Amino acid sequence: MVARMGILRLSHVDITVPDLDLAAAYYTGVLGLLESERTDDRIFFKCWDEEDHHSLAVRYDPRVGIDRFSFKVEDEEDLEELETKVEEYGFRVHRVSRGEEVGQGASIRFETPSGHEMELVHDVEKVGGLLGKFNPGAIPVGMQGIAPPRMDHLLINAEEVGVATRFYMDVLGFRLTEQLIGSDGHQIGTWLERSHTPHDIAVVNGPNGALHHFAYWLDDWDHVRQAADILAYNSIQIDVGPTRHGVTRGNTIYFFDPMGTRNEVFTGGYRPDPDFPTITWTEDNIGRAVFYYEGEVNERFIKVHT
Ligand SMILES: [Fe+2]
Repeated sequence: MVARMGILRLSHVDITVPDLDLAAAYYTGVLGLLESERTDDRIFFKCWDEEDHHSLAVRYDPRVGIDRFSFKVEDEEDLEELETKVEEYGFRVHRVSRGEEVGQGASIRFETPSGHEMELVHDVEKVGGLLGKFNPGAIPVGMQGIAPPRMDHLLINAEEVGVATRFYMDVLGFRLTEQLIGSDGHQIGTWLERSHTPHDIAVVNGPNGALHHFAYWLDDWDHVRQAADILAYNSIQIDVGPTRHGVTRGNTIYFFDPMGTRNEVFTGGYRPDPDFPTITWTEDNIGRAVFYYEGEVNERFIKVHT
């Protein structure tokens, strides 16, 4: 029997926005995503190099927030296996049938110890990337805005980072690449992966159920610099950067969409194999861990979440 892989990667993030038209204008015109579908109260977006139906869904709600995040599993059987493990851990699993959710087949949803709704899905409608699979070009021509090729990761808040992290590791099979340890010896930040990148999800201390940011991959530093130019040209509020993380070693810019959700563009970092030994940072080095060049973390970066 071939060993199954379980979770492959981040599938999509579902957020709420108070203004659908503004969200559409920003996420297509400035970020450079493609709109893949629209319903009465939701808009679905994908990046140009993504094959699946969407990686971001926005739903109208007067409050800015997060509905759920969704990870994709390798096989249909993984859903049953992971459903059992989540139930054994003590959380009730809600099954979503085919046809209930836009752009995807059956999925399972459950609450995590950090108070987030998480979804696992296998069958997502393939709409294809812009380059095609037959003698493809190297870049899509005529894209608007930053135009990242794909979504990369998200960072969520948790009151008990250690408990949340154990859930992602023990129940869902994530591997811990890096951790930030507080002066009391407890984890205050953790970075976890399934896709052999420095992180697919990260957890930092903060209120349960909150989203800190989600991030888009860019190919290199030159694209990060270009992204900064586009953000500044469009008067988008930059939170931090362009700079570099100590954790992940990635290059980054943090900024806010016009409704207040923090976005990131990210490139670089190392390639962790499954036997990668965890890197540990201590709280007295938190500045360099988070922002390697500045050596300090601003108040807004710690306190603002949605
Ligand atoms: Fe990030």
